[in-house]
Amino acid sequence: MDIYNAGIEEELAVLRKTAVPVEEFNDELKSFIDIMIESMKENKGIGLAAPQVGDMRRIFVCSIDDREPLVFINPEIIETSMETSVYEEGCLSLPGIYADVERPERIKVQAWNRKGRPFKVEADGLMSTCIQHEIDHLNGVLFVDYLPEKKKLKFLKKLEKANSK
Ligand code: NI
Repeated sequence: MDIYNAGIEEELAVLRKTAVPVEEFNDELKSFIDIMIESMKENKGIGLAAPQVGDMRRIFVCSIDDREPLVFINPEIIETSMETSVYEEGCLSLPGIYADVERPERIKVQAWNRKGRPFKVEADGLMSTCIQHEIDHLNGVLFVDYLPEKKKLKFLKKLEKANSK
């Protein structure tokens, strides 16, 4: 499964779209999620959102510290802490780009699992950052959007250049 790159105009346009809620929980969804998990592992990512592989459903997977990958379908952040934390973020769609991003330290998320069962989870640290980064993907937001405009444009140009060779 190819991962869309923000340095390619048509792929960036897809990454900028807002994904739509999953309505059908079926076998196709399950196998799509399996492929997403494989893709994430293959590319050594800690998270992957469906729009990054060109599928506009509200789905992402994440896996931290070799723990069992978590699947989030139609996720909503229902609580955020006042405290923030800063992590150096990267993204499989922005290869080679890394920057510090400040986000709420702790969050509570409600989502559905692959079987269509609702669950809630509290996350902090890297897991919290990862979930927020992936939910952003479902809304067409990339981590470079949190950077000063000049820095953001510099990074996007660098990606464009890397892909024009
Ligand atoms: Ni990403």
